[in-house]
Amino acid sequence: MIIAIDGPAGSGKSTAAKRLAERLGFTYLDSGAMYRAFTWKARSAGIDFSDKEGLLKLVNETDIRIDCSANGSEVFVDGVNVTGEIRQPSITENIHHVSGLEFVRKKMVKLQRDFARGKDIVAEGRDMCTVVFPDADKKIYMDADIRERAKRRHSELETCDDESDIDNVAEDLSQRDHRDSTRQFAPLKRVPDAFYLDTTNMNAEGVVDILIKEIGREQQTD
Ligand code: DC
Repeated sequence: MIIAIDGPAGSGKSTAAKRLAERLGFTYLDSGAMYRAFTWKARSAGIDFSDKEGLLKLVNETDIRIDCSANGSEVFVDGVNVTGEIRQPSITENIHHVSGLEFVRKKMVKLQRDFARGKDIVAEGRDMCTVVFPDADKKIYMDADIRERAKRRHSELETCDDESDIDNVAEDLSQRDHRDSTRQFAPLKRVPDAFYLDTTNMNAEGVVDILIKEIGREQQTD
């Protein structure tokens, strides 16, 4: 069974997808981690993001792997564990240079489908319902008010500590939303057959309870 979840940053989809996978006994797929991993690789290889040929060569020779265990998911690039590093702002700021490239997306889509083969998964990202798993058993689109999303991101970022920083985070998020939803290949889009959930006034447990109800199943124990 495949459950596909899309939505913008801060909509609560990562937390919900992780907890949902746990409750259902499914494997969690964080597709954004793959774009983060390739961004990390391009930066550590010193490639200029405007060098499309260099990026094409690099994407073809880069090994990206996600390991899911009881301790959560770990991300490896050419065997190097980059789980922590790919969450740094220096990566987040640069992902858009690679996530809009068709040849990068092609490789990631293949990785994501290979990862899912033969498994029950909860996959989250921007193009899970539209491109990667258009035949998913359940499609979900999550969203939240920009101010609330900024507050959530703000509390995750240790360097921010006042109200004006929330404005900066909101500005960054709007910019990312705009880029993600207007790019030529696989833009973030809400498909008509997705279950829509606005999480603005909800906590993570409440979100997961609603999703479980919508999906109509809880983990089967034997
Ligand atoms: O989910 P996240 O915030 O870790 O994703 C980081 C970036 O990766 C996001 O700004 C857009 C991109 N992304 C994408 O283009 N397609 C996906 N399926 C997942 C993420």
